[in-house]
Amino acid sequence: MVSFSEFNFKGKTALVRVDFNVPIDIDLKIKDYTKISISLPTINKIIKDEGRVILMSHLGRPKGEKNYRFSLKPIFEYLSKIYGGEVLFSEINDDVKNLKGKIILLENLRFFKEEENSDVEFAKKLSKLGDVYVNDAFASIHRGHSSLIQLPKLFKEKFLGFSLQNEINKISIIENNTKPPLTVIVGGKKVFDKILPLKEFLEKAENILLGGVVANTFLKAKGGSIGMSDYEEESINLAKDIIEICNNKNVNLIFPIDFVVIESDLESREIWPSVVLAENISDNQKIMDIGPETKALFTDFIEDTKSVFWSGPMGYIENEAFIDGTNYLLNALHDFTKKGGFSVIGGGETGYLANKLQKNVGYISSGGSALLEYIAKKKQLPAVWW
Ligand code: 3PG
Repeated sequence: MVSFSEFNFKGKTALVRVDFNVPIDIDLKIKDYTKISISLPTINKIIKDEGRVILMSHLGRPKGEKNYRFSLKPIFEYLSKIYGGEVLFSEINDDVKNLKGKIILLENLRFFKEEENSDVEFAKKLSKLGDVYVNDAFASIHRGHSSLIQLPKLFKEKFLGFSLQNEINKISIIENNTKPPLTVIVGGKKVFDKILPLKEFLEKAENILLGGVVANTFLKAKGGSIGMSDYEEESINLAKDIIEICNNKNVNLIFPIDFVVIESDLESREIWPSVVLAENISDNQKIMDIGPETKALFTDFIEDTKSVFWSGPMGYIENEAFIDGTNYLLNALHDFTKKGGFSVIGGGETGYLANKLQKNVGYISSGGSALLEYIAKKKQLPAVWW
């Protein structure tokens, strides 16, 4: 079978699964274009060959219901700036077949519950729209959804797009350059997705540093008080397992020792944030960021290792007031990398900040959980190894 770059798309319609799950603010403006930009070479190759492109993506988690907050319209507007009238935007229905545009962006796949349910009939419906399947959605390869695992089964001609190939090639470079001791920093939300592959990392990592909602969930699992802070109930047992394995294997599982907290939802009341020790969080407080002592402690761990993997921010970086802990560690990572340390950042939010602040990082991947899971599971991911 020829490769994606060798294949001639002339006269063919390619169904391209991309990951355009970009951060979009309250005014429906795209905050970071990286995930779109990285798939442009794949789109351009098909267009240059005189083929047609049908782009499919999810955005957010609309849970199978149509919701304008999760519409791909802002992405269509951005693509129109690049490709002009060659791009059309369409709901997912049979009429797509009759559209004449060179590039057609379909509305959010997750407006259909069948996508996340990995529904075969949904995949069959999508398959009728194109002749060739291309997966260019690295940040989604850990998902067993219909467009990712059922749809490719229905095509003889299927390929991995340029950005997905690039990410996979980089992973072997990452693995060859990761020298012990390794420190893994895990933060942000999507706790289950991040801590499940963490189990595999316990063989390789010396230190695991916890931040964000991940840290809150581990604190809760340990029986600590986290007040009104967000945590993931369904991940508590997994967190308990990981705590036990770390104890048995002598992996340092490092919790934040102090936090920046607020006393209620910032949106409803204006309250100045304060710093408290982890053991003193009261019932009406909510964790928003790591505190100064934690920043210093985590920096010491970064400085004392040879390799650092980082996925997920330390606090609620959507709000500028709580960006400091993540920024501080990005500076530490910048210095560490400049001194010859090997660093990798996985995932949109942290990677976006590192790019924006022009921090020196060995490699920034577009996928957070996807990167961790790929490294942990390798060839068992059905979205990539057909
Ligand atoms: C991501 O941003 O991590 C990917 O787009 C996957 O999104 P999901 O966690 O909602 O499946």
